[in-house]
Amino acid sequence: MSVPFQTAVVTGASRGFGRAVCATLIAAGISVVGVARGEQELHAAHDELGKGFTPLAADATDEALAQNVIREHRPSLLVLNAGSTPHMAPVHEQSWETFSRNWHTDTRHVFAWTRAALRKPLAPGSVVVAMSSGAVLAGSPLSGGYASAKAAIRYISSYAAEESQRAGLDIRFVTLLPQLTPATGLGSGAVEDYAARQGVDRATFIDSLQPILTPEQVAKAVMIVATDDASAPTYQVSGAGLRPIS
Ligand SMILES: NC(=O)c1ccc[n+]([C@@H]2O[C@H](COP(=O)([O-])OP(=O)(O)OC[C@H]3O[C@@H](n4cnc5c(N)ncnc54)[C@H](OP(=O)(O)O)[C@@H]3O)[C@@H](O)[C@H]2O)c1
Repeated sequence: MSVPFQTAVVTGASRGFGRAVCATLIAAGISVVGVARGEQELHAAHDELGKGFTPLAADATDEALAQNVIREHRPSLLVLNAGSTPHMAPVHEQSWETFSRNWHTDTRHVFAWTRAALRKPLAPGSVVVAMSSGAVLAGSPLSGGYASAKAAIRYISSYAAEESQRAGLDIRFVTLLPQLTPATGLGSGAVEDYAARQGVDRATFIDSLQPILTPEQVAKAVMIVATDDASAPTYQVSGAGLRPIS
């Protein structure tokens, strides 16, 4: 596939969806700057992905980082995927700190990079893909503020799309809503807790999620929404495929 991007930044690049996204972009000939905090996992990703991958051990919520990386690397694709593992407990067993965890990481980093993308700005034709969650539509009663943090990401992305259009920047903003999957560390932990809450074993709960969404499907979805000019602002991605939603 011929792609219009030379350089991409992927946050949360060291494992799970982010690592698969990096592999898919690099296979398409795109250089990737991969951001995550843990150096060891980032270096393992570098060993696996090769010289197309530039590891950057940093906290993706840092606004100065977002500005500096955009200035230095001039990416034309941002994949804002970093996310904290939610504290799994019903609402009355959360503290404000645990409840707001995903606001402080997931939402804050999307805010920081989206703001930098508009203010720098990215070059015309650039695309910003933000990782939200299917929890935005269904709720996630054991995950504290997770669903609301991910809903805020969807709003930030849509506000940015409007500002891009108003300023004639030609930067496209797309939000992806992946279905819960046991295929990553984050999803696997959530599956365990939702199964226990429903009083079923893990295998039975996983059966209810079939077909299971894989990180490779998420990576393919990122590539499709980034390269499809006619793309919608928001897509659900599940094991059954990609579906635009309004
Ligand atoms: N798995 C699912 O079922 C599912 C469903 C819907 C949406 N999502 C969303 O998809 C995204 C990826 O999820 P995943 O399942 O692949 O999770 P994961 O396997 O836990 O990976 C999360 C990635 O984010 C990085 N990260 C976390 N906090 C960071 C920070 N402050 N700065 C930089 N990097 C940070 C992690 O590395 P470090 O910890 O080393 O920084 C890691 O690379 C998340 O936003 C998640 O909410 C997941």
